[in-house]
Amino acid sequence: MTDELNFLLDGVEIPFHKGQTIMQAATAAGAYIPHLCFHPDLAPHGSCRLCIVDVNGKTVSSCTQPAEDRQEVHSNIPELQQARLRLIQLLFAEGNHFCPSCEVSGNCQLQALAYDLGMTHYHYAPFSAVRAQDGSHPELFIDRDRCILCDLCGRASCSSDNKNVYGLSGRGEQTHLIFRSNSGNLADTAASVNDHAAHICPVGCILPKQGNYMQTIGNRLYDNAPIHKVGNHRMDD
Ligand code: FES
Repeated sequence: MTDELNFLLDGVEIPFHKGQTIMQAATAAGAYIPHLCFHPDLAPHGSCRLCIVDVNGKTVSSCTQPAEDRQEVHSNIPELQQARLRLIQLLFAEGNHFCPSCEVSGNCQLQALAYDLGMTHYHYAPFSAVRAQDGSHPELFIDRDRCILCDLCGRASCSSDNKNVYGLSGRGEQTHLIFRSNSGNLADTAASVNDHAAHICPVGCILPKQGNYMQTIGNRLYDNAPIHKVGNHRMDD
């Protein structure tokens, strides 16, 4: 009799310890479940739904679902991949994601997931959102039209940087990224380009003003291998 706890993810045994979620255990074991709003060092947000898995015929988000012993979890199945594709297409319709001209093209998780899931077209009519940009900060530029509302920056700002700079405000389609200063400008917060929050964005919303477009095509993270092989490059940030 062994005390080791484990579950099966697409037939592969994943060890875990009590209290871990399916996503935490899978990530620790080097297995990839698609995600956008999860980071192993931060509390789960459960908002992007890319991490959905099937557990006993029920679809649950693996970043919030506690792992259980001998559970059978399915992630890489056609129904879930199709649902994820639609979620990615919704994000492309909701924001303005013009990959060829974007500073993080080739390093962007949204773009990499779109490739991985076989996205070839928009599917949903683009929202063509026009949200206020913020160029007030000397080191950082904010393109809110690329924000996917994952709140990774907000959570990193609180837990890693102890600053509470970034947050979300509004409801429904009015939900948007805010900066916690009296003026509402990023320049009037304690934000720094060296913050964890400044580098955790999975897309191209929070950008350093210096050093963009430095990586040549062929040398970017997702140029040579898909995201399900490479994983989330922000994990080490
Ligand atoms: Fe689980 Fe976003 S990673 S909901």
